[in-house]
Amino acid sequence: MSTVLITGATGRVGRHVVTGLLAAGVAVRALVRTPDRANLPADVELVVGDLYDPSAVRQASVGADAAFLLWPSFSADGAAKAAQWVRRQRAGVGSGAPGERRRPAAVSEGGAVVDPRAGHRGGRRTRAAGRAASATYWASLVDTPEPVTTTVTTLTGRPALTFADWSAEHADLFRVPSTQELADRYVAAFRAGRFDAALALTAPDLVRVAPLEGTELVGREAILDNARRLNAHLEYVGVELLGPFVRNDQFAVRFTFDERHLVTGARSTTTKLSLYTVSQGRITHEQVFYHSPPPG
Ligand SMILES: NC(=O)c1ccc[n+]([C@@H]2O[C@H](COP(=O)([O-])OP(=O)(O)OC[C@H]3O[C@@H](n4cnc5c(N)ncnc54)[C@H](OP(=O)(O)O)[C@@H]3O)[C@@H](O)[C@H]2O)c1
Repeated sequence: MSTVLITGATGRVGRHVVTGLLAAGVAVRALVRTPDRANLPADVELVVGDLYDPSAVRQASVGADAAFLLWPSFSADGAAKAAQWVRRQRAGVGSGAPGERRRPAAVSEGGAVVDPRAGHRGGRRTRAAGRAASATYWASLVDTPEPVTTTVTTLTGRPALTFADWSAEHADLFRVPSTQELADRYVAAFRAGRFDAALALTAPDLVRVAPLEGTELVGREAILDNARRLNAHLEYVGVELLGPFVRNDQFAVRFTFDERHLVTGARSTTTKLSLYTVSQGRITHEQVFYHSPPPG
């Protein structure tokens, strides 16, 4: 199993990197300053040290197969040195420094404004000075935007999207979808076997009325629990959908489930029609009508 060293593992970005690597079966080692507050998964190996301390970085890198060097400062100053310290112990280095995503074995320099260590090691005066310098830096970006690197083009062979392009491409994700759009997405998610994506289109307090089951359930969790209980003895082989049939704030979908009984191996189908009600771009209510109910 390969081992990846991560710096900044306790931060917003680093935690996602840790989760992703663990899920991929990679051994994770994290360089942390305060292990007591790290709150990382138990199987993460913690190495205590500061990113600005060469011996700590070198020690953390020993035996690592790769490093995700996430640079915690606005400025890339110092990142090149740290990358070198890591590189001496091993070959591949990626960087999370601004504008330097996943650049192997290289970190470019950015405009230095504040020593990031001041906020962590200094007293009140240095922290205040650090904040003022940060504000000055942000203000300066109005007239002098940060330079755009060519890293994305180098790595992917195509230029990075501008924020304007990205916004235009993703605008739909940020507006409330119509009933038709939501219904289409819901059905497409089911057809792709993405039940998680379908569920994400429902309101957390979704109400499900399924008369044959004799229940009115409130909340996704309660609905999922009930489904797990009812279907514990069944394995779904496939599902066919007809629809969606949309009218105003409601849509209907017919589902035909092909299922196999886990004990007897018998195949059966369950057909149901669900009538969904939509509010504020989420499914808030599902009423179920069974044609052939699930086998008991
Ligand atoms: N968040 C975003 O959406 C985003 C987007 C683009 C780029 N970035 C860039 O990505 C980098 C990380 O962002 P983030 O949001 O994850 O930051 P964050 O939540 O503030 O986390 C910073 C991490 O760096 C660690 N750290 C800070 N100084 C250190 C030092 N001297 N030695 C060792 N570890 C140190 C912190 O560890 P402690 O637990 O010890 O404090 C923490 O794990 C920054 O360069 C940021 O500009 C972030």
